[in-house]
Amino acid sequence: MIFGRIKPLDAILATAEKKALHRSLGAFQLTMLGVGAVIGTGIFVLTAEAAQKAGPGMMVSFIIAGLVCAVAALCYAEMASMVPVSGSAYTYSYAVMGELIAWMVGWALILEYAVAAGAVSVGWSGYMIGYVEAAFHMDVPDALTLGPFDGGTINLPAMVIAVLVTLLLVRGTKESATVNAVLVAIKVVALTAFVVLALPAMRMEEFEPFAPLGFGGISAAAASIFFAYVGFDAVSTAAEETRNPQRNMPIGLMGSLAICTVFYLLVAAGVIGSVGAQPVMVGGEGLEPGSRALAAQCSAISDQAVVCSKEALAWTLRQIGWPQIGNLVGLAAILALPSVILMMMFGQTRIFFVMSRDGLLPELFSRVHPRFHTPHIITLLTGVAVALFAGFFPVGQLANISNSGTLFAFGAVSIAVMVLRRTDSARPRPFRTPLVTLIAPLSILGCIYLFWSLDEKSKWLFAIWAVIGLFVYFGYSRRRSHVGLGKIDVHEDDPDAPPQPVPPIPGT
Ligand code: ALA
Repeated sequence: MIFGRIKPLDAILATAEKKALHRSLGAFQLTMLGVGAVIGTGIFVLTAEAAQKAGPGMMVSFIIAGLVCAVAALCYAEMASMVPVSGSAYTYSYAVMGELIAWMVGWALILEYAVAAGAVSVGWSGYMIGYVEAAFHMDVPDALTLGPFDGGTINLPAMVIAVLVTLLLVRGTKESATVNAVLVAIKVVALTAFVVLALPAMRMEEFEPFAPLGFGGISAAAASIFFAYVGFDAVSTAAEETRNPQRNMPIGLMGSLAICTVFYLLVAAGVIGSVGAQPVMVGGEGLEPGSRALAAQCSAISDQAVVCSKEALAWTLRQIGWPQIGNLVGLAAILALPSVILMMMFGQTRIFFVMSRDGLLPELFSRVHPRFHTPHIITLLTGVAVALFAGFFPVGQLANISNSGTLFAFGAVSIAVMVLRRTDSARPRPFRTPLVTLIAPLSILGCIYLFWSLDEKSKWLFAIWAVIGLFVYFGYSRRRSHVGLGKIDVHEDDPDAPPQPVPPIPGT
């Protein structure tokens, strides 16, 4: 039976048992962890893309995306607290819905993590180039700093940052809790400075027309800006290190999502009200972000619209008379975004590692470097893929493709929560999703709605990726699966492999 290959939950948990992490995290630390993982390219860069899709209506898009994340987060947290091992959505699905679904989720997570790392690298490049041009009055040629769809040839800075982060990961660099706390502070100060300076410059007439491209535009922007919230799963995966998770998990999850949503709304209002955020249109039609048509139109107006900017927040501050602070906000993004790339690539290597250990991917992928003790081969392969995405594709397209994979995984986790409540209702759940019969279906519907609102290209790419995944599964993985071969692996010695430090926990 195709759905019959289930990896027994007890075997998965035996892997985790010896881990016995100290329960040290409280609500505040969890919230900080979430804010640190979430704030990144989404707000710093994709605000411009959301404006191009929805105009001032992007405020509603931020709320919709935040709500979908909130319900998905509550489902994620129950699974994470029950199955606290590496592999996240992939592992949960293996235990609940069987190998084929788990494979598809793992396959989709490649989109989530690797493509997202590419998107954040492109976002970093935009701020880096903008900073160099503004601070040193240089004109860096577009050909080498923008991908082919954005009016250039290759985005070299984006490739360089992806390669640098890869090398750090191969060496097994750990971002310390202190560094993470500092980066959270930098991001929060930068966004606060933006809000404080932009809001007084706000004019209500800039909010008219509110939704120039209708509710379709608002939905499309919500599907893109969903990227700005991705990363909160870092909070749910810390469930077993949390004191009193039943109380602290929802506070951590909802708290970090609420803080981010408030910041995002204030920042969006600041951009809209101070410089205007109407889409660039031709003949009543909004041009697609990241398209050659929009690049050409922006060039024709000398990039004098926030939707044309690759560094929306810094650009806005320069426009309203705060060029130095604009540069500093740019610098904040330059400093803080690499840690988001690091987290995404780390997540990717971990998923590959677990899938390889289950026999679904070549054993080579889980080989560990003798000196650095990191899964170097898969890290390097991931790095090459991320660098190629970053070098040639526009940030918005990458973010949308990443969102398609993330939405699929979130939907699968929400289904898994409901299935497991029926099939294994007695198992202890350190955290229980409140009102699960309402929250889980809402999460599934929200994921379907946002997926549906993605651009056609991303949906097609997701479908093609899924078909390739099925071929790989039936052509390679199915025959080699350890569960299929009757081997139930219990990795007591390396429960949270790869042997890499866990992501940073601020304040610990
Ligand atoms: N939420 C993260 C970002 O916006 C992925 O960069």
